[in-house]
Formats: sequence, structure tokens, C-alpha cells
Amino acid sequence: MRMIGLFDSGSGGLSVLREIVRLLPDEKYVYYSDNAHCPYGEKSPEYIRERCREIVRLLLDKGADIIVVACNTATAAAIQVLREEFPVRFIGMEPAVKPAALGTRTGVVGVLATAGTLKGSKYLTTKGNFEDGCTIVEHVGQGFVELVENGDLEGKATEEVVRTSLQPLLDAGADIIVLGCTHYPFLLPVLRKLAGPGVRFIDPAPAVARHLIYVMVQERLLSEREATRALAKVIELAEKEAMGQKRPPLGAAPAVELISSGDPAPLQRMFHSIWPEIQ
Ligand code: DGL
Repeated sequence: MRMIGLFDSGSGGLSVLREIVRLLPDEKYVYYSDNAHCPYGEKSPEYIRERCREIVRLLLDKGADIIVVACNTATAAAIQVLREEFPVRFIGMEPAVKPAALGTRTGVVGVLATAGTLKGSKYLTTKGNFEDGCTIVEHVGQGFVELVENGDLEGKATEEVVRTSLQPLLDAGADIIVLGCTHYPFLLPVLRKLAGPGVRFIDPAPAVARHLIYVMVQERLLSEREATRALAKVIELAEKEAMGQKRPPLGAAPAVELISSGDPAPLQRMFHSIWPEIQ
């Protein structure tokens, strides 16, 4: 039986797991939340690399056949060394600057991410590639990770925290805002409310889920028939999106082992808010 491993500094990577499960509902998963060391955003790349090494060893011990680094900050700091040091395929996160740069009408793209991601060489290179055609404005989502870990996803106090980091991007004229941290999609209802209907947010998780299918076929972890079934779901989702319809509700909870390095409650809570039926 195949097993897909995922990890993040906390519960944020569940926003990626959610999109993967839409395409691959019957796989086995193991998810590691490093919440004893969360947030990663301001930590040094060396520190994050050490954490990633330890987590990857654990996921491999659990039997992971492929690993999704469901954290932009960890991807920026560590994916290169992980690829060099471990004999397993890694899928990483990357802020979706390209679709945003191609889609903006105002010519201003906003990026919300952690300090570590915004300093990463991959991000800086991607940004450099698109900066000629548009203006890219950035802001750290100050306090966003803490809000998500605490389960504070709505309410006046949450709105105030979110507004502080969002407003500078709106003031600069951004009409598309890239969510460059896997925690941030859980704040989308608040982000949308504050930004209003003229602003679109891009969560890269669906693209990462599609890329995972591709890599799993390459690695012979998915048969052609299974990949075809997953891609049929991709087409169904794209059609719904094109028609302006809502994404279909998620099905049953996946078979997943949830592991936390700290208090298990935040991860359990977020998981149950995504897949409430197994509470
Ligand atoms: N979910 C992580 C990311 O995508 C959160 C970073 C943090 O822990 O600060 O970057």
C-alpha cells in the first residue's frame, strides 16, 4: 500500500492535504505538524533544515513513498538539501507568482508569505522573471500563522490582525494576491471579506496536488488508470471553476495518521473542521 507523507510547521499543510485528497481520496497519508517549533517564518534556514531532516527520517520510518513539503518556508530553506540527502521524491511549495502576473488587470500583484519565504532564492528568481510585466508588492502575514494554530479564523480581533498585513497590498492596487504560506488559505473568508469582490486570492495547493499526480506516475506510484481517474477530477474541478460554481464538498475523511511534535489539539481541531464527519 502506498503512503504519501506531508509536513508543515503546523496545521497549515492541511490546506494542501485537502486538495490532494480531492484527487486521491483512497491513498494512505501520514501528516507531521512540527508545532513544537512553530512558526518557522523567522527562524534561520539552518535551523529549519535540521528540523526537516528529522521529520523526513520519521516520515520514511513510517513508510512514506513520497513526501510533500507542505510548507513554503521549509521548501525555501530545505528542499534542495532534502533532495540531495534522501532517496525519495519531494514535492515542494512555491508562491504562485506566475499565474498572478499573467492574470492581473491592475498590473499589481500582491504576495503574502513569511519572511523566510520572501528571502528564499527560488522566490526571488521567480519574482525577477515577472517583475518586468507587473509590480509585485509583498507583505509578511504578521500573526496569521498564530491565528490559524489557535483556531481563530474569524471575528473582529482576527480581522484586525489580518487587515494590518493585507491593507498595504490593497493600497498599492493589487487585484490578485498570492497566498505564499500554507496556513493562509484558512483565513480566506476573512481575507475575502476585507478585500472585497475586486480582489482574487491564489492558493497554490490545487496546482501542487496536480503536480503530485504527475510525479507519482513518473515514480510508478500511480498506475495510468488511477492517474486518469485523478485527472478526471481535475477536469471536473476546472469546469466548475470556469462556470463560477463552488468547489464540490469534500468526501469522506482520508486514512491519515496525524502526528504533532507539540500539543496534538490544534492539528486535530483543524482536521476535524475540514472533515467533520469523523468527530
Ligand atoms: N505553513 C508555513 C508556510 O507555508 C508556515 C510558516 C511558519 O511556520 O511561519 O510557510
